[in-house]
Amino acid sequence: MAERSSRVVLASGNRGKVREIQAMLSDVALTVLPQSEFNVPTAAETGLTFVENAILKARNAAMHTGLPAIADDSGIEVRALNGAPGVYSAVYAGADASDRENLEKLLKACEAVPAGDRAARFVCVMVYMGHAGDATPLIAQGAWPGELLRAAIGENGFGYDPIFFVPEHGCSSAQLPPEVKNRLSHRGQALRALVAQLRAADGW
Ligand code: IMP
Repeated sequence: MAERSSRVVLASGNRGKVREIQAMLSDVALTVLPQSEFNVPTAAETGLTFVENAILKARNAAMHTGLPAIADDSGIEVRALNGAPGVYSAVYAGADASDRENLEKLLKACEAVPAGDRAARFVCVMVYMGHAGDATPLIAQGAWPGELLRAAIGENGFGYDPIFFVPEHGCSSAQLPPEVKNRLSHRGQALRALVAQLRAADGW
């Protein structure tokens, strides 16, 4: 396998995600540069799975920068809604919807869902592509089970964090300190698994 560059572009424009991923990779010998530094155009997320969308984003960033790319695709799945909003989490309330609008729509959709049936989980697929034509991308997944709250609470995190109840801490994920969320979260799990794959593949 070709030697990996130590500079990697992060294929995300979501500032919450960029912050979390950079913090989690701070002790790894990689310089992680957000794609905004290269004016990378946004990739159309036309996949039906988190895996497809993560690959589309990583390929797009690698193609426009000439650098290896890491991308994640993530979302929240609600069991009572058969996994919705899932891959459409970012656009649940419309193409330009804010985090708040998405969250309010999900609360409304689950108004009639009783306690005991409000299982939800965050899921994340994290992909590394050495170059735009990489046909063997490294792929890692994480899942973080919890429950859907009935109202938003907490100031940390982003997206659906204020309505995601974390049973082992008895609070929403927006009430967790960032380092605690990163230790538990779908994104933390996926990123640690991806780093293990990178180390195994390259020995860095
Ligand atoms: P993506 O950028 O297409 O992967 O969209 C992911 C969407 O899922 C985000 O816009 C958030 O709404 C939601 N999401 C993913 N991870 C998290 C998280 O850690 N906390 C809260 N919401 C999240």
